[in-house]
Amino acid sequence: MSVLLARHQSIRATQSLRWLDLMSGCGIRALRWGLEALGTHAAGTELWINDGDPDRLPLIQVNVQKLGCSTQLSADAAEVLLHRSILQCQWFDFIDLDAFGAPGPLIQPALQALRFDGLLFLASTDGRSPTGHDRVGAIRSLGAAARVHPASWEMALRQQLGLVARQAWLLGRGVQPLFSFSEGRTFRLALRLRRQIPAGDEQQLGLVARCERCGAQRVQSLLKLSGWPACHCEEGHGKWSISGPLWIGPLQEEALLRQLIADAQDLAPQQISPITLRLLRRLQADPGDCPTVWPSDELARRLGMGGPPPLGRLVRALHAAGYRASASGVMPGQVRTDAELPELLQICTSLRVEGI
Ligand SMILES: C[S@@+](CC[C@H](N)C(=O)[O-])C[C@H]1O[C@@H](n2cnc3c(N)ncnc32)[C@H](O)[C@@H]1O
Ligand SMILES: [Zn+2]
Repeated sequence: MSVLLARHQSIRATQSLRWLDLMSGCGIRALRWGLEALGTHAAGTELWINDGDPDRLPLIQVNVQKLGCSTQLSADAAEVLLHRSILQCQWFDFIDLDAFGAPGPLIQPALQALRFDGLLFLASTDGRSPTGHDRVGAIRSLGAAARVHPASWEMALRQQLGLVARQAWLLGRGVQPLFSFSEGRTFRLALRLRRQIPAGDEQQLGLVARCERCGAQRVQSLLKLSGWPACHCEEGHGKWSISGPLWIGPLQEEALLRQLIADAQDLAPQQISPITLRLLRRLQADPGDCPTVWPSDELARRLGMGGPPPLGRLVRALHAAGYRASASGVMPGQVRTDAELPELLQICTSLRVEGI
């Protein structure tokens, strides 16, 4: 995804670019940028490759020798490189930040080192805090409450996006999420830095509530925060578990994903794996525009059904009933919809009655 995104930027660029693989490891990602992503301004493109471990340098040095662009290799601490670049006004068009653990402290300097409209590709391997399994850790690293939720990967991505948005807003800048995905261990986001905060974007920060007992879900923007209505439990029995503040806006930018898919069609089969293409299509089909997501297994369990309702049929039935709905592109076997749980369960029941 990093290579596709860099290639997307490069083939549309009107000037030379500066890219930074900030925690490059063996340098494979930057090497692939140099081999596969350079467009018309290849000669003027600067590839900065950095890893805190100096033992990586000799191998990277050998590997980059034949690239058709200039390279700058270093073994600096990421924070040192970013702050030096900011002081020297050396802005990057693309920063890939592939950290171990949570990248929190590096988010703000990375945003400051980006050119306006520059791209940040951010990874976090901290799954415990944002999924509600380390609530104290979430307060520390995200400044947010995180509660266990069946759409755990999505909640982790939304927590991460919320943190990045708040860091950008502190700088008076905006962010536009481009794509967000996970396989359950690493949580990856791509976003574009905006010179200004898009109008109304502050509404995209909010709270997600879920009643563990009845399964009801509710979302509120911080800007319009009011009391929580009753869930669907008998009076006094329900209890909301509330996560946030987190990003409640879209997770994917459909237009960009469409372009990435179109770009990928031009590649030779050995350059793009079927898994990546499937991921792109899955994300494109689900913009992630509302954060209320239910696993189909949970719906089946609540209805005492033998097996989960088929997702495709369920999505079509929800559309027919006038709701927004899509199969989650983030986590398999989950449905995203703005229907409330009783209506959702009713539609599942009607599918069962139809014998589907
Ligand atoms: C997840 S790995 C990067 C993997 C690489 N992007 C790839 O695709 O193969 C994280 C890397 O960050 C480096 N690292 C950890 N802390 C760092 C820091 N503060 N500054 C710079 N590099 C750091 C480690 O040496 C490690 O190679
Ligand atoms: Zn309830």
